Amino acid sequence: MSKLFIKTFGCQMNEYDSSKMADVLKASHGYEVTSDPEAADLLLFNTCSVREKAQEKVFSELGKWKEWKEAKPGRVIGVGGCVASQEGEALAKRARIVDLVFGPQTLHRLPQLLEQTRSTHRPAVDIRFPEIEKFDNLPEPRAEGPSAFVSIMEGCSKYCTFCIVPYTRGEEMSRPLDDVLAEVSSLLDQGVREITLLGQNVNAYRGAMAGDGGTCDLALLIHILARFDTLGRIRFTTSHPAEFSDSLIEAYAEPKLASGVHLPVQSGSDRILGMMKRGYTQAQYLDKIRRLRQARPDLALSSDFIIGFPSETEEDFEQTMAMIEEARVDAAYSFIYSARPGTPAANLRDNISLEVKQQRLERLQTRIRQIGDEYARSLIGTTQKVLVEKTARNPGQLSGKTPCNRPLNFDGPASLIGQFVNIQVAEVLTNSLRGRLLGSAE
Ligand code: SAM
Ligand code: F3S
Repeated sequence: MSKLFIKTFGCQMNEYDSSKMADVLKASHGYEVTSDPEAADLLLFNTCSVREKAQEKVFSELGKWKEWKEAKPGRVIGVGGCVASQEGEALAKRARIVDLVFGPQTLHRLPQLLEQTRSTHRPAVDIRFPEIEKFDNLPEPRAEGPSAFVSIMEGCSKYCTFCIVPYTRGEEMSRPLDDVLAEVSSLLDQGVREITLLGQNVNAYRGAMAGDGGTCDLALLIHILARFDTLGRIRFTTSHPAEFSDSLIEAYAEPKLASGVHLPVQSGSDRILGMMKRGYTQAQYLDKIRRLRQARPDLALSSDFIIGFPSETEEDFEQTMAMIEEARVDAAYSFIYSARPGTPAANLRDNISLEVKQQRLERLQTRIRQIGDEYARSLIGTTQKVLVEKTARNPGQLSGKTPCNRPLNFDGPASLIGQFVNIQVAEVLTNSLRGRLLGSAE
C-alpha cells in the first residue's frame, strides 16, 4: 500500500485541508497516512504565507528532501496551501524537486494532478479558485475522535492592508447550508459530540438556504446546529470584529455555544486600525466585548495582534496595552508585522527598529500571560463541563477542554472518552489545568 506523509504549517484551516487531502488520496489511490517520512511515497507540504518566516520555512524544508526523493524512484513531492497559491509555476522552477503545486481551493484535484505528473514527467500545477467546487468533490468526512472541524466558508474579502490571505485563498465563499448540515450529521453519526466551525472569517458566513432562496448567517447556523440532540458543544474560529453582529452576540444565550471567543483585534490604536483597513475603532471593539460579557459573564477572550505596523508610535502601542486591560484579553497570537509582497501595506516605509518591535511584543505578551494566569486561577474550585477527548500523556489521566478552550487533565477511565463530564478545577499548570472528576454531565 502506498504511503502518504503530510507536513502542515499555519492555521486550523490548513489542518482541516490536510485531513481532506488524506481523505481524497485514500479514496482515489488507497494512500495510507504515515508519520514517518522515510516510509512515504508521496510527501505533501501544506504551506502558510501569512508571514515571511512561515514562507521561508517551506523553502528550507524543501531543500532537505532532495536526497529523500532520489533514494527511491517514483517518489513524489507536492506543495499546497498559500505559498503554492502565491507562487504557482515559479515554485516548481525555484524548487526543482517539486512535482505538484496546488492551492487551498484545488486540493480535491490531487488525484488528477498526480496522474498528470506521472504521465508527463513534468510538474502539475493548479492554483485556481473554482467556485466552491472543492466541497462537492470531497469524500464523506471521517471522524477522528469526539471533536471535529467543519469548514463552512473559504477565503476572505476584507483585504486588510497587511494581509496576503485574500490573494492566496480567494474571496469569501460560503458553503450552502444543506451541505454543512449533511457534513455535521455524518460526523454526529460517527460519534462526534463537538463541532468547531471553521473559516478565515467564519462570521462572514452567508450560506444559501434551499427552498426560499434566503441566506443563513453564523448566528442562525448556531441555532440550527444546537437542535441536534447529540451535539453537545459548538465552537467557531476565526472571526472578524466588524462581522460580529448583534444576532451573533445574542446567540451566546445558547448554552451549547462555548464561552471561549477568539476575536482578532490587531491593534488598540484607531489610527493604526484605520491604516490597516480593519473597519472598526477601539471603542467599537470594546463595546462588542462588553455586550458579549453581558450575554455570557464567564466569557474568555483571545485575540491576534500585529506589533510594529509601519509608523506605530509609542502612543499607538500604549493604546493597545490599555485596550487589553479593558477587554481582559487572556490569550493571544501576537507577531511582529511582516511585510507581504503585493499587499498595500508593503509600500509603507517600515520605520521602526527591530529592537523596539521586540520590546513592544515582549511587553504585550508578558501582560497577556499575566491576565491569562489570573483568569486560569479564577477557575480554581469551579465546575467545568468538559468533553473527554483522549487519554492524556500521563498514564491513567484523560484530557479535554473547558468551554473557554483551556486544556484540562484529570484521572478517569478511558471508557469516558466521547462523553461530557463535570470536572472541578484544582490546579493551574503552565499550559493546562488539572481537575477532579465529579461525574457525568450527560
Ligand atoms: N479573520 C481574522 C481577522 O479578523 O483578523 C484573521 C485571519 S489572519 C489569516 C490570521 C492572523 O495572521 C491575523 O489575525 C494577523 O494577526 C496575522 N497576520 C496576517 N498578516 C500578517 C502580517 N503581514 N504580519 C504579521 N501578522 C499577520
Ligand atoms: Fe486577513 Fe484581514 Fe481577512 S487579517 S484573513 S484580510 S480579515
